[in-house]
Amino acid sequence: MSTALMLTFLLGTFNFNLVCTLNILGIFPYEGKSHFFVFKPYLEELTKRGHNVTVISYFPQSDPVENYNDISLAGKAKVLEEAFPLSRSYSMFIHISLFLFNYGSANCRILLADEQVQNLWKNKWQFDLIVVEQFNSDCSLGLAHQLGAPVVGITTHTLMPYHHDRFGIPYNPSYMHVQFFEGGTKPTFYQRLERTVVYYYLKILYRYLSQRTDENILRQYFDDVPPLEELAGKIKFILLYQHHTMTGSLLYPPNVIEVGGYHVAKPKPIPEPLKKFIEESEHGVLYISFGSMLKAASTPKDKLKVIISALSELPQRVVWKWEEKTLPGNPKNIYLSNWLPQNDILAHPKVMGFFSHAGMLGTTEAFYHGKPVIAMPIFGDQPSNAAAIEECGLGVMIQFSELTKETLLEKLKTILDPKFQAQAKRVSKLWHDRPMSPMDSAIYWTEYAARNRNFTFRSAAANVPTVQYLCLDVILFLLGVILVIAYTFKYVISLICCKRKQAQIKSKKQ
Ligand SMILES: *[C@@H]1O[C@H](CO)[C@@H](O)[C@H](O)[C@H]1NC(C)=O
Ligand SMILES: *[C@@H]1O[C@H](CO)[C@@H](O)[C@H](O)[C@H]1NC(C)=O
Repeated sequence: MSTALMLTFLLGTFNFNLVCTLNILGIFPYEGKSHFFVFKPYLEELTKRGHNVTVISYFPQSDPVENYNDISLAGKAKVLEEAFPLSRSYSMFIHISLFLFNYGSANCRILLADEQVQNLWKNKWQFDLIVVEQFNSDCSLGLAHQLGAPVVGITTHTLMPYHHDRFGIPYNPSYMHVQFFEGGTKPTFYQRLERTVVYYYLKILYRYLSQRTDENILRQYFDDVPPLEELAGKIKFILLYQHHTMTGSLLYPPNVIEVGGYHVAKPKPIPEPLKKFIEESEHGVLYISFGSMLKAASTPKDKLKVIISALSELPQRVVWKWEEKTLPGNPKNIYLSNWLPQNDILAHPKVMGFFSHAGMLGTTEAFYHGKPVIAMPIFGDQPSNAAAIEECGLGVMIQFSELTKETLLEKLKTILDPKFQAQAKRVSKLWHDRPMSPMDSAIYWTEYAARNRNFTFRSAAANVPTVQYLCLDVILFLLGVILVIAYTFKYVISLICCKRKQAQIKSKKQ
């Protein structure tokens, strides 16, 4: 009896493993290190859970992990230019949008021209699931279509404007953000106007510049190339790198999964002498990093002076990620290094705040460790992140153009205040309080898509024609009915009036 039970159990385990080992292909043709930094832990976790993962990217592993197979595109694209101007303007925004979409198509050409990638379709590789980055190009969807497996989308940021339609998400500028711009969930009239124009501008540009170009590139390799927007509609799930603690509740269908936070690793001990510098601080430490946004060479001298003079008035020590060895005036309370273990620093109890450009990775780490943020957005999704940080209570926002010693000192005092420190801890608690960890969520829905490959959660809203979606036909019909009734009424009244008038005239004549 017990042997039989054990046999059943063993067979069950064996079967379970068989069913669970998925052959997964990841397509990441965008050469952005900060993006891949988020995908990597997810891909590695898939292998840890027994899946066989093949990854097309510009970032092959340096220490190979079992069941993680690279198809490397490294060295095939120009390294992304990282220096963007510090002053935001509409012309800069247009420049960046064109750059992004052209860059996406250039990556598409590189992807399809790669011999190892071509082998996938020439040798008819079978995958159970394909994971595709959703960012500046849908070229990968064309490749996924040839390989014929269900697709899961993944991002490192909030939804781009042109990604709403494919999931049937209604976009409404009155409370929904657009990356590149501020305003949060309570925008001014001007911000709503700005959002509306930017939303349609990006959508139209994406359709006619990015998708059309990518479709033409795909046609050089394949006979059957459906419109990319049609393939986009077949994406089973999208794993969004955000959480509503930060963005506020948005109206998303159940196939849009929030997984923001999974990249944050367990903190490791901080190396010396930084550890000593942090632990010996009497009043705590402020951490500063603008990623690659603010560089010594591109930062105006007067702005740098403003920051240093404000910091010199703080009793706190400062740890600053800066690529030069010294700062003007050699301030004593500042520790400089061009490489710093950001997550480990933010995790340290002595660290009291984070002065940052509000990139999604650093922002996520600040949420995770409950550290207040001074958000100084420069470009990309930073303005909308910064607005969300301020709105949810994790931090305050400051504009680079408005950076003076007084404004910065005021913001520093705000976040270093014990009340604000406690508030950041509360926000962080909310961030962590979820039914399932973000990594478990990401893996669960990825496996779900492969398990139920013929089933979709896709909202019916995504398939409804625009006229029907906006109920234009119903409104037109009802207007017609009202008009007919009104005219009939008017006609009847005029008839009655006429008869009365005629009767009066007759009686007068008599
Ligand atoms: C895992 O994927 C690689 C290709 O990336 C393939 O060569 C190998 O056969 C796969 N392993 C299993 C067990 O399917
Ligand atoms: C999914 O649909 C395809 C084609 O309609 C069919 O061949 C396949 O058996 C279905 N798979 C499952 C798991 O239902």
